[in-house]
Amino acid sequence: MRSCRPWGAVLTRVVLVAIAVTATACDEQLSDITGPTPSLEPTFSNIRENIFETTDSAGRTACVACHTSQGRPPAGGLDLSSDPYGALVNRPSRQQEAAVQVIPGDPAGSYLIQKLQGTEDIAGFRMPRNGPPYLTEGQVLVIERWIQLGARND
Ligand code: HEC
Repeated sequence: MRSCRPWGAVLTRVVLVAIAVTATACDEQLSDITGPTPSLEPTFSNIRENIFETTDSAGRTACVACHTSQGRPPAGGLDLSSDPYGALVNRPSRQQEAAVQVIPGDPAGSYLIQKLQGTEDIAGFRMPRNGPPYLTEGQVLVIERWIQLGARND
């Protein structure tokens, strides 16, 4: 019996590793990390619907509450209501010289991501302007993924 114990320990370890791998795979399911917007996916139409146009259950305000051209000029000159894709992708920031809102394939270099994370070198405030709450890490991750995949108008 004694000689079986080491094998038992090895087996236990194998099972634990298998469980850990499964758990990691589950963690990577987008619905688990996107919290208040469980159906958020890295496509532009989905981000527009879930982030730009929706005030989520955590109380984070829809971007179009301020970034709209309906009835008044959009906040910061950025209209996310009529043609958000055209307003963001390969378009320069109005406030931060040389910054580009969305650079396909380069999430970290995209000013939109920097504004959502509130990085040090942004002009003005972290978005949403009336936060907290801001976007969750998972929500930002999905937007970064969309940019990483080429920021397509899908
Ligand atoms: C309560 C109003 C308000 C809300 C909500 C809001 N914003 Fe803003 N936003 C502003 C104002 C005002 C500015 C300009 C001043 C500044 O940058 O702080 C701005 C600026 C920006 C800029 C920079 C524009 C440029 O040309 O440099 C980006 C990008 C942006 N917002 C994205 C967003 C996104 C994405 C959301 C939603 C997650 C959002 N904002 C929600 C008011 C708002």
